[in-house]
Amino acid sequence: MINVLFVCLGNICRSPTAHGVFREYVRHSNLEDLIIIDSAGTGDWHIGKNPDKRATCAAKNKGYDLSDLRARQVTPEDFKNFDYILAMDQSNLKSLRRMSPPNFSGELKLFLDYHPDTSTKEVPDPYYGDDDGFVTMLTMIETASTELLSQIKNNYKLM
Ligand code: 4NP
Repeated sequence: MINVLFVCLGNICRSPTAHGVFREYVRHSNLEDLIIIDSAGTGDWHIGKNPDKRATCAAKNKGYDLSDLRARQVTPEDFKNFDYILAMDQSNLKSLRRMSPPNFSGELKLFLDYHPDTSTKEVPDPYYGDDDGFVTMLTMIETASTELLSQIKNNYKLM
């Protein structure tokens, strides 16, 4: 099993969108029995909540269903259970590095390290912005998801 965790601040905009997009790509590749996907937030304000309506709507417009997702906070156990812990921005990566035990052997990095545009390293937080921010976020997440899946397939010889 390959376990992938997407992390943002609130777990209601960026990381649930990545969760919904990446699981769709994994399903299309018939790898859903091998690749386990989850998302979480470094903050605790939105625990138990559905994704933000604007994120749900932007995702739905492109065929991704986020309706079953509920926000949760990152826990110490996540560092035992996940092979890839992918942060949406530097601030969340910093929080995760502080939590990470010395023996964590997985990949802890920025999700956009998988984005081919090397000038774009953070998924901007769309929460306080307008609807366009959610569309921009979704496009960045789709591009990075394609590359992430391709690298996982290569690493684990899943082709
Ligand atoms: P997310 O966006 O980290 O992409 O889920 C945010 C959601 C809520 C807040 C901040 C960012 N907030 O401050 O409540």
